[in-house]
Amino acid sequence: MSSRVPTPFDLLSSGLLLVNHRREVMEVNLAAEDLFGSSAVVLRGTPLARLLAEPGRIGDLLVDAEQHEYRSRRLQVTWWPPGRPPTDLDTVVRLVNEGEVWVSIELREQDIALRIDREERQGALLQMNQSLLRNLGHEVKNPLGGIRGAAQLLDAELPTAALREYTQVIIKESDRLQSLVDQMLAPVRQAVERQPVNIHEVLERVRQLVLLEFPQGIGIRRDYDTSLPEILGDTEQLIQVVLNVTRNAAQALSEYGPNPVHAHAPCTITFQTRAVRQVTLHRRRHRLALQLRILDNGPGIPEPLRKEIFFPLVSGNPKGTGLGLTIAQTIVNQHGGLIECVSSPAGCEFQITLPLSPGELR
Ligand SMILES: Nc1ncnc2c1ncn2[C@@H]1O[C@H](COP(=O)(O)OP(=O)(O)OP(=O)(O)O)[C@@H](O)[C@H]1O
Ligand SMILES: [Mg+2]
Repeated sequence: MSSRVPTPFDLLSSGLLLVNHRREVMEVNLAAEDLFGSSAVVLRGTPLARLLAEPGRIGDLLVDAEQHEYRSRRLQVTWWPPGRPPTDLDTVVRLVNEGEVWVSIELREQDIALRIDREERQGALLQMNQSLLRNLGHEVKNPLGGIRGAAQLLDAELPTAALREYTQVIIKESDRLQSLVDQMLAPVRQAVERQPVNIHEVLERVRQLVLLEFPQGIGIRRDYDTSLPEILGDTEQLIQVVLNVTRNAAQALSEYGPNPVHAHAPCTITFQTRAVRQVTLHRRRHRLALQLRILDNGPGIPEPLRKEIFFPLVSGNPKGTGLGLTIAQTIVNQHGGLIECVSSPAGCEFQITLPLSPGELR
């Protein structure tokens, strides 16, 4: 970021900020410049609150630290420097109280061990989801055929149209349930047809579809790395993934508008693509992977749902079936990738990582 001569402070791999009593940044090291995408010259003097999604949190913590005299606290904080997407960072806040320096803040990308652990948990949950879907599918499908058939026979025997209304309800509802089960089972059954896919064409298709479906008041911003190579995948299935995630964001935005952090901002969804190096996905190390982030500035996922949104039939939307994210996760998984959700007061972010190079078993 900067061409100044490095000091020992700059040689640290974690980002470091020194903050004064006015809660302004006094000094930053090179790693922090990288994390925030700004130079020290710009960052010095910036109020801490302008870099945070939830400005109150660190301040409250430190006032508490001064009163109770503990010196440091470690927590996950959503940082949100101007012009950059919000990022969750492992954050250690230390009370310094020396001269002008009030606190030091150390920032690290989330622990690799933590990430692998999360991936494994996600893999186990996904398998559970899929066998649950398959079993449930069978259990519901077989009797459903019988119920529908019997209702049809009864329908033919009934003497009046008024009575046939009841059998029609049974038939219609059986058909609805049947199509729900088919939808649930579709991604589990379909094989992935791998062909070179340009992710930006997928994104453009979804952008067009969503803008048509929500013609009023939602913008989709693109932040593409157009130098990315093609991925091997199934175009239609990848469209389904991006569409399911983006449609949720558009539904939340059209229902609730932007969250209070962005009270006067327009409703915005952002598609961001980047290359990431040396990524572990499903215990395989990939030299190169594609990271697709779909961000929105809406209300975020309601707290009670946060841990469960990838489960089938979990929905916060009265008109939803709760299958969109389950299907997205199944497809991403079949492509050897990972889908994760970060919901913060700054909005909601879905991060999809897909391999761009063959993986080596770790
Ligand atoms: N970007 C978002 N902002 C706010 N809430 C979200 C967002 N994405 C998902 N959700 C919450 O997660 C729930 C589950 O999403 P999912 O797509 O799996 O099901 P659904 O949208 O309810 O139904 P459907 O099967 O029709 O997609 C949603 O109902 C919503 O409450
Ligand atoms: Mg949905």
